[in-house]
Amino acid sequence: MTLPGFALAVHVLAVVWWIGGLAFVTLVFLPALRHGLDDDPRRLFSAIEHRFSRQARLAVVLTGLSGAYLLYALHAWAWLTIPRFWWLQAMIAYWLVFALALFVAEPLGVFERLLGRGDDPRRAWGYFHRLHALLLLAGVIIVGGAVAGSHGL
Ligand code: HEM
Repeated sequence: MTLPGFALAVHVLAVVWWIGGLAFVTLVFLPALRHGLDDDPRRLFSAIEHRFSRQARLAVVLTGLSGAYLLYALHAWAWLTIPRFWWLQAMIAYWLVFALALFVAEPLGVFERLLGRGDDPRRAWGYFHRLHALLLLAGVIIVGGAVAGSHGL
């Protein structure tokens, strides 16, 4: 296997791990919390999300490093200005959103504060769930666009 082949394998495996975790949180864990399976959803969510966010951080770092290497190895910087490679710009934008959320907002406690604020926690959890669903949908569209687009299909 060549080095770019290895980088592509690491890149796709890191993305699978990261988006798979997001799918679990959005489709299984958050719905269970919102339907009252625990009397203190914030505490349970923090305990589990905290564990997963460490793994998500590692996956985001591996995705970014392998992606940057692929840009260099495939001479793909020039594609960034070509509209039909929209999926490449979308990957980088998506990566930036998660890098900011996981390395800046989360350590500063932004999400915990937002979820604990206000007198209607159900509404706050509803927004939080919809935000996860939107990110998951965007991730699925980007992965689909990248796989089809990078094979010229
Ligand atoms: C800093 C961020 C990123 C950079 C610089 C980057 C760059 C790249 C490059 C250069 C390729 C190779 C394209 C080709 O083989 O023609 C690639 C492949 C791929 N990327 Fe990214 N990427 C980044 C983040 C992401 C994210 C966030 C996702 C998912 C949401 C993603 C999903 C994929 C997938 C699925 C492929 C494989 C396409 C295939 O060969 O079938 N990437 N990426």
